Amino acid sequence: MIDNDHPPALAVRSLVKRFGDHVVLSGVTLEVRRGEVCVIVGPSGGGKTTFLRCLNGLEDFQEGEIDLAGVKLRGGLPPTERTPLLAQVRRQVGMVFQQFNLFPHRTALGNVIEAPMHVLGYSRERATAEAATLLERVGLKDKLHQMPDTLSGGQQQRVAIARALAMKPQVMLFDEPTSALDPRMAGEVEAVIADLAASGQTMLVVTHSLRLARRTAHTLHVFENGQPLESGPPQQIFDAPRHEATRRFLHEAGEK
Ligand SMILES: Nc1ncnc2c1ncn2[C@@H]1O[C@H](COP(=O)(O)OP(=O)(O)OP(=O)(O)O)[C@@H](O)[C@H]1O
Ligand SMILES: [Mg+2]
Repeated sequence: MIDNDHPPALAVRSLVKRFGDHVVLSGVTLEVRRGEVCVIVGPSGGGKTTFLRCLNGLEDFQEGEIDLAGVKLRGGLPPTERTPLLAQVRRQVGMVFQQFNLFPHRTALGNVIEAPMHVLGYSRERATAEAATLLERVGLKDKLHQMPDTLSGGQQQRVAIARALAMKPQVMLFDEPTSALDPRMAGEVEAVIADLAASGQTMLVVTHSLRLARRTAHTLHVFENGQPLESGPPQQIFDAPRHEATRRFLHEAGEK
């Protein structure tokens, strides 16, 4: 499923992000090939969320480069150059947040059709037909017309996944998609993410769930102090971690 014949969907080179004097990302270099599922784990405060926010243009950065399927963002760009690139960047990525972030006054269907109609210019009929298919795919065929506050957390998160997929992004970004959910609902959301992984969707998933990493990742990146410290197939890292920090993280996460 991983496409090695074409350029990667996402290539990040030497990305540096500082908040004032505080270096949060200290030179991240990482690739996600088409069809690849990369999972990022690592201790709290290691810069994982900040990294995803740089990738979808929610944060600027000082040094390095992000190449998203040919759309290139460089660090330190003046706003006049950066701003027009952001719309293109955001067309390449879909983002799923820990707290779902649905539009509270729209139904499940209304949440999913919004961007295809307003950004892609789809007719309401086309957007509705595609949204219904996506909501069925995430197991919500009978919830199309319900408001977010009448859905469980797991159901809301699955609407959020359908909403992101509706834009047909090159890369799906997930920031701890199951952390706000109880174990049963987390399991439902993990099943949807595993299904997407099996279908060849390119994804970058930040999670504390080693179970999700084991189930979906082709490549696991352990972040510490704003850098991938160790990268490789998850089983290899679980079985034979090379760094003390990785061993400590796995131990604390209940793995070893
Ligand atoms: N807007 C901001 N201004 C200043 N510092 C920030 C800002 N956002 C994040 N940071 C700092 O950047 C560092 C990395 O934070 P980040 O949220 O990226 O970590 P994380 O790896 O996602 O952690 P967690 O696992 O707890 O979600 C932290 O020290 C945090 O305090
Ligand atoms: Mg985070």
